[in-house]
Amino acid sequence: MNAIANHELAGMVHPDRVHRRVYADQAVFDLELDRIFGRGWIYVGHESMAKKANDFFSTWLGREPIIVTRDGEGRLHGLINRCPHRGAQVCNAAQGHARHLTCPYHAWTFRMDGSLEAMPRMNGYPASFDRAGHGLRRIPRVESYRGFIFASLAPKGIGLVEHLGSMAEALDNMVDRSPTGELEAAGGVFHQEYAGNWKLHMENATDLVHPGVVHESSVLAGRATAAGRPDEAETQALQMLQANGLTIADFDRVDLKGTPQGHTYMGAFYSKGDIAPERTDAPFLEYRAALMARMGEAKTAAVLGRATFNNLIYPNISVNPLFQTMRRVQPISADRSIVHSSCFRMIGAPEDFFHKTITFLSTANSPSSLISTDDIAIFERTQRGLSSQQSEWLNLARNIHLDEVAADGSVAAKGTSEMAIRLQFKAWLHHMVGEAA
Ligand code: FES
Ligand SMILES: [Fe+2]
Repeated sequence: MNAIANHELAGMVHPDRVHRRVYADQAVFDLELDRIFGRGWIYVGHESMAKKANDFFSTWLGREPIIVTRDGEGRLHGLINRCPHRGAQVCNAAQGHARHLTCPYHAWTFRMDGSLEAMPRMNGYPASFDRAGHGLRRIPRVESYRGFIFASLAPKGIGLVEHLGSMAEALDNMVDRSPTGELEAAGGVFHQEYAGNWKLHMENATDLVHPGVVHESSVLAGRATAAGRPDEAETQALQMLQANGLTIADFDRVDLKGTPQGHTYMGAFYSKGDIAPERTDAPFLEYRAALMARMGEAKTAAVLGRATFNNLIYPNISVNPLFQTMRRVQPISADRSIVHSSCFRMIGAPEDFFHKTITFLSTANSPSSLISTDDIAIFERTQRGLSSQQSEWLNLARNIHLDEVAADGSVAAKGTSEMAIRLQFKAWLHHMVGEAA
């Protein structure tokens, strides 16, 4: 039985404010895991993580441990990582290649499509034993969009393309920037766990008021370093550190766009040196020539000209096509989450590009970053503040009177608007109670 009625959930979200319980109440979190992560399209991994027949990787889909496999014919499958015998987690490896998956407890063995292949001493079971009904449970819907794998635990619902809507452009842009049109997940993954709600991470990614405040120490350090080394002032890391100190007026000039599905993205707020759309260094010229050979001049210019930073695909990922990076948030409990930060190699691009990707991810989103550690500290302080029961509401009204809503439901706003958070809560309400805010 639901602990919280739909009308009570709906009462927690208003156009300009939300109740603290949406972050702090474990019963609300449990419903989010049922209704958002347990039904909707959730990004689970990239096809290159299980590239060849019989490759697999394991991850989490909401509260479910899962395995994504390719069978002998190369078809993708999503399986629940739980043995139908007595419940052990069958696969412990993050990634690998195997002809079968064998449970470590009593050695039931499964084919890569999840069907039961064998178990020791089969004659210990009656002839009527239903082998077909004792495979690994299958995830009803697993689909790939240009190599990005999404899964849904609901057998029915809107299609993946409909869910992505116009935000599919962000994934297109990731892929189209590769000279071969192919990407591979590479370079490892950073994992950062924090004592705060998963939504804080998604909301912060396009909150452009906070950088100058939360990241002030690294803004000052970046400025001091750049002043001492003018020839390095446009390196990507120094640009990034200093750009967080832009004025509110400058941040207001950054585009902030949203889609009816709750996805949002922001324009690039710095764009010199390593990330300028037009560079003259040899690796870039080689790279651009390869793009032009594949796509022609006009499309190459359009692909390189789409200068965006955080592209949030609700509810759990943020992609950064300029740098080929991705962050994925994993909800653990109302007050605990993990951010997995990873990167992609553009197959066929000069190695220099992958080095820049690694540098960007390490500077912005690693445990040693001067930036993401500030964000995590503020998430934890926010969660602690939200444990207070003396105040109920959080305010989301910034620039609410300036939202420009188009006929198709997409929204445009000034960079420092809290529009993205309002839109995320509109999607939240839709998933949680089937209503618009
Ligand atoms: S629990 Fe898996 S074989 Fe027994
Ligand atoms: Fe930040």
